[in-house]
Amino acid sequence: MNITVIGCGYLGAVHACAMAELGHHVVGVDVDRDKIEALSEGRAPFHEPGFTEILRRRLETGGLTFTTDFSAIAGARVHFIAVGTPQGPGGAADLTYVEGAIEAMKPYLGKCLNGDEVVVGKSTVPVGTAARLAPSVAAAGTLLVWNPEFLREGFAVEDTLQPDRMVYGLPVDSDDAERAKAVLDELYAPIIESGTPRLVMDYATAELVKISANAFLATKISFINAMASVCDAAGGDVTALARAIGMDARIGSRFLRAGIGFGGGCLPKDIRAFRARADELGVGEALNFLAEVDQINENARHQALDKARSMLGGSVSRARVAVLGTAFKPDSDDMRCSPGLALAAELADEGAHVVVTDPAAAPILVHDDDLPYDVAVDLEEALTAADLVLLATEWDQYTRCDPSWVADLVGRRNVIDGRNALDPEAWRNAGFAYAAVGSR
Ligand code: UDX
Repeated sequence: MNITVIGCGYLGAVHACAMAELGHHVVGVDVDRDKIEALSEGRAPFHEPGFTEILRRRLETGGLTFTTDFSAIAGARVHFIAVGTPQGPGGAADLTYVEGAIEAMKPYLGKCLNGDEVVVGKSTVPVGTAARLAPSVAAAGTLLVWNPEFLREGFAVEDTLQPDRMVYGLPVDSDDAERAKAVLDELYAPIIESGTPRLVMDYATAELVKISANAFLATKISFINAMASVCDAAGGDVTALARAIGMDARIGSRFLRAGIGFGGGCLPKDIRAFRARADELGVGEALNFLAEVDQINENARHQALDKARSMLGGSVSRARVAVLGTAFKPDSDDMRCSPGLALAAELADEGAHVVVTDPAAAPILVHDDDLPYDVAVDLEEALTAADLVLLATEWDQYTRCDPSWVADLVGRRNVIDGRNALDPEAWRNAGFAYAAVGSR
C-alpha cells in the first residue's frame, strides 16, 4: 500500500519505518528540513534502540523516503498524522500542528485511484478533536480514523510492530466505518494475523483510551511515590511493599517503581491536557485527582533533595554532586520534563557544584554553554571527587556499576538511589551511606 506519514518526530519516524517493515511504500513528510535530511541519510535524529538499523535497511530497499514537499502525499491510500501536540497555555493541548498538517494536506487529498483513501490520526489529542476535524477531511474526499499509538520510548519499534492492542476510532456513519476499518485491517494485516487484539469504537472513546491509559500509568507511579513518603515517615520499605502488592494480579507489579517521578514528552503533558479538556466539558471535578498526581510527582523529586541535604550535613552548598542520568528514562536521549535535569538545576540553585552525565543525552547537553551545571560525557569524570552520587535514570551502565570502583573515585561515599534500582547492601558494603526515596 502507498502510505504517507505526516510529522517525522519520534512517533512519526518510527511509524514510517515500521510501516515500511510491513512491506508498504512509505513517504515521511515533515516541515523540518534538518530532520528530513538526517532521516534521508539514514541518521536517526534521536536515540532509539533498533531504529537506525531498520531506517537504513528500508532506505536501501527504496520502500521508504522522506521529503518536506506535501505534494508527495497525492495518490496515497493512507495518510498518518503523527505531529506533536505540545502543552499549550493553561495545560491544554496545543493543536496547531494537527490543524496545520490537515490544512497542508488538503490540496493533495482525495486523489487515490485504487480504493478508499483514509486519514489516520495517531497524535494524542483532546477528546472531540476527531469529530471536529472529520467534516473537513470528508470534504476533501477521504475518511478519518483515530488510531492512537501507545509506544514507549526505548521500545518504540517493538511496540509499533507488536502492540498489546490496536484501537480504531471510526466514523459515525456505519458504511464509512466499515470502509475505513477494511482499509486499516488490510494495512495492519501482519499485525492482526499475529493475534493482536483489534478494538473498534467511536472517535471519542478511541481518543479517551489513549489519554486515560497515560493518566492511569501516571497515577500508578504517583500512588507508589505517595506510599514512599509514608514508608519514609513510618520506617517502611517501599520496594518490598511494591513487590508484595504487585503480586495481586488485580494490581500488577509494573509501574510501581518509586523514585524521583515520571517525566518525558507524554505523561506530564497528557495529565494536564486531560484536566484542561475535562474542565471544558464541565466535568473538571472528576479529574481533580490528576492535580494530586502531578503534585506528588513534583514532591517525589523534592524528597530526594531533602535526602541530599541531610546526607551532606544540612546543606548541599559547595558540595560536588554527580547526577547520573539526564534522559527521562533509560535507552532514550529525551530530556523533556527530565526529573534528573530538574534535580540537577535545583541542586545547583542551592549552591552545589553539580556534574551531570548520561550515556545518550550528555553528548547533546555538552554543546550548551549556558547551563547551571557541568556536563561530563564520561562516567568516571562525573564521579571523580564527588561528595554525593545521585542516580536519576536507571541505565544499565549505572545499576551494574561496581560500588567499590565508584568508592575509589569519589571524594565522599554518599549515594542517593533516585530510582530504587541499586543494591543497597552492595553499596553499603563498599562503605557508602545509602539512601533512597521510601527505602531504608
Ligand atoms: C508513555 C506510555 O508508557 C506510552 O504507552 C505512551 O504511548 C507514551 O507515554 P514513555 O513516555 O516512553 O511512554 O515513558 P514511560 O515508560 O511510560 O515512563 C514515563 C516515566 O515514568 C519515566 O520518567 C519513568 O522513569 C517513570 N516511571 C516509570 C517511574 O517513575 N516508575 C515506574 O514504575 C515506571
